[in-house]
Amino acid sequence: MSTAPVVERKKVTLQTLQAKKERGEPITMLTAYDYATAYAVDRAGVDAILVGDSLGMVVLGYATTLPVTMDDMLHHCRAVARGAQRAHLIGDMPFMSYQAETAQAVRNAGRFLQEAGMEAVKLEGGREVAKTVRAIVAAGIPVMGHLGLTPQSIHKLGGFRTQARSAATAQRVVEDACILEEAGCYAVVLEAIPDRVAELISHRLGIPTIGIGAGAGCDGQVLVVHDLLGMFDRFTPKFVKRYANLHDEIQHAFTQYIAEVQARAYPAPEHITAISDEDYAALVAALEPHAD
Ligand code: KIV
Repeated sequence: MSTAPVVERKKVTLQTLQAKKERGEPITMLTAYDYATAYAVDRAGVDAILVGDSLGMVVLGYATTLPVTMDDMLHHCRAVARGAQRAHLIGDMPFMSYQAETAQAVRNAGRFLQEAGMEAVKLEGGREVAKTVRAIVAAGIPVMGHLGLTPQSIHKLGGFRTQARSAATAQRVVEDACILEEAGCYAVVLEAIPDRVAELISHRLGIPTIGIGAGAGCDGQVLVVHDLLGMFDRFTPKFVKRYANLHDEIQHAFTQYIAEVQARAYPAPEHITAISDEDYAALVAALEPHAD
């Protein structure tokens, strides 16, 4: 008997997410970067899967998200799209794929839908990207915003740290959220900002907010799947809750495998395919004589 959870299989759309906000039902979102993870996350019943540029850090081993390219993103988005059937799929626009020119931003956003099976894109920034958001939305491509700690601006921000802690900086984030909604975003990620600021924004906006390190007052939550599973040890923000410790489990499996191969305990008889005595004898007879 299957142990899979019973999940409503109806495809999640922008309208599903909006209706959840209106009903006060929390939206669930996780990142995924490959087929197998997307399959598992989708099967568990998450509402949305973000192919985040965080893949640069947790999959590709970069220190920041800045080196991630369009080609990297499209490659991983395609794998995720093959694994997920129900969840709403969002591709993260990498650094310099939308900042320099609006027309290039629209073309790059289009590639996520046309070439990689995504249904929306996410990009970072507030008022400075409003014109770009408008142009992408005008091309028929849904856009998710991202405010607060925006990792593509890591050098401007001075590190991975909580944003909007003063009245003035919090006011700017609130204003930016309203500007993004007005520009046509269908949802906004709020990363690493104080919970009351996130809650205030969530009440002010008609569109859903998805929090990460922004408290329980958001309309939904997102986590990087490697953080949730305990697979990324280099840096774990305070707001992450680990639901598993796969790093240790994986390490244990690898050391066990090495020990069993070295001890000739693996493969065991149940892992092999036998040839019949008759066929083996015929094979040996057919071969040229050999020194062994
Ligand atoms: O790249 C990413 O995974 C993200 C989430 C942390 C929201 O932007």
